[in-house]
Amino acid sequence: MNSTLVTNIAELHTVDAEARVLRGAALVMEGERIAWIGDAAAAPAADTVHDAGGRAALPGWVDSHTHLVFAGDRTAEFEARMAGQAYAAGGIATTVAATRQAGDYELTRLLLGRAAEAARGGTTYLETKTGYGLDVEEEARHARIASTVADEVTYLGAHLVPAGADPEEYTDLVCGEMLERVRPYVRWADVFCERGAFTAEQARRVLRACGEAGLGLRVHGNQLGPGAGVQLAVEFGAASVDHVNHLQDADVEALAGTWGSWDATVRTGNPGTVATCLPACDLSTRQPLAPARLLLDAGVEVALASNCNPGTSYTSSMAFCVTTAVLQMGLSVAEAVRAATFGGALALRRHAGLDADGRRAVGSLAVGHRADVQLLNAPSPTHLAYRPGMPLTGAVWRKGVAVAR
Ligand code: NIG
Repeated sequence: MNSTLVTNIAELHTVDAEARVLRGAALVMEGERIAWIGDAAAAPAADTVHDAGGRAALPGWVDSHTHLVFAGDRTAEFEARMAGQAYAAGGIATTVAATRQAGDYELTRLLLGRAAEAARGGTTYLETKTGYGLDVEEEARHARIASTVADEVTYLGAHLVPAGADPEEYTDLVCGEMLERVRPYVRWADVFCERGAFTAEQARRVLRACGEAGLGLRVHGNQLGPGAGVQLAVEFGAASVDHVNHLQDADVEALAGTWGSWDATVRTGNPGTVATCLPACDLSTRQPLAPARLLLDAGVEVALASNCNPGTSYTSSMAFCVTTAVLQMGLSVAEAVRAATFGGALALRRHAGLDADGRRAVGSLAVGHRADVQLLNAPSPTHLAYRPGMPLTGAVWRKGVAVAR
């Protein structure tokens, strides 16, 4: 099995339970796993040696919320928004029309290009969703294509009620035939519970049906105004509720109530509902930034994700999200890095040990975890906020294979 020693690391941030920072460190990747972490002076030999040259090493970013299966772009809508027009869910229909026109080859090519772009930016674990198909054939096609590229696929047939469809009948379809057709390709289900998308009652039906079909649950909630998304996510034991821009005290309390002691919930593999904040989207839609500081202080686990999509966040840069979280959302660098790595892994339930399906943990650097590692072109992650917008991704390994260096 091929092994790589990365040595001469100025700071190695484990981002695991102990959150250790090892100075003068090294790590060894063997096949797809991390085989050794420790003092550079004590490092074992390996087939290949990579001199980090005094750079910092972190886990690769875990991007737990994207919508990458799409064609077309929405530049005109973005320009109108920057001129003062409010974002509305209806823009999704523009992308649905363009995506339905694209053949399998074209959609796969576009998706591969976006995944490669994300990897070059340090993202080593990627979730993506359906949601620009919105009929049975298209949702199944998008789920199938997504499953050939992304690490995790989420079914989002409940993204928007297509023009001309009856909302209740469309919800039936999402809970019935459409769910059956996407089921072989997806691990998760999601629903956009928002004015202009799905009501709380419709969202409840979707979550119930998808949960009964054995899918893990996630919710798009409280993005454009206060709403039922967070409460529904808690009611159904969802792994995450995403966006969370408009929260009432009761929403924060409900989320906090899903988190007991770290040992009791995380280590035993039964964590609470993660609040996933999407700062690039908040800036592009001119929504208030999600209250990540408040959530962390209340004891809620927070993830940062790119929400890369053509409507509200056309970027897969997790470094940009980390920078924004530090400069504008009141997180420390360590908190922001944790949210963009371990937090995403928690939101995808890939944070601990070997799962039942045999996958290795991601989002932290520990022996036995997946060898997803990035080096920054900087001696410490503080530079992500200290030097905003600079090209700080130095080298990236995904499953032990160099994807950028
Ligand atoms: O996460 N909120 C709903 N879905 C996407 C936007 C999709 C679109 O506008 O195309 C989001 O922001």
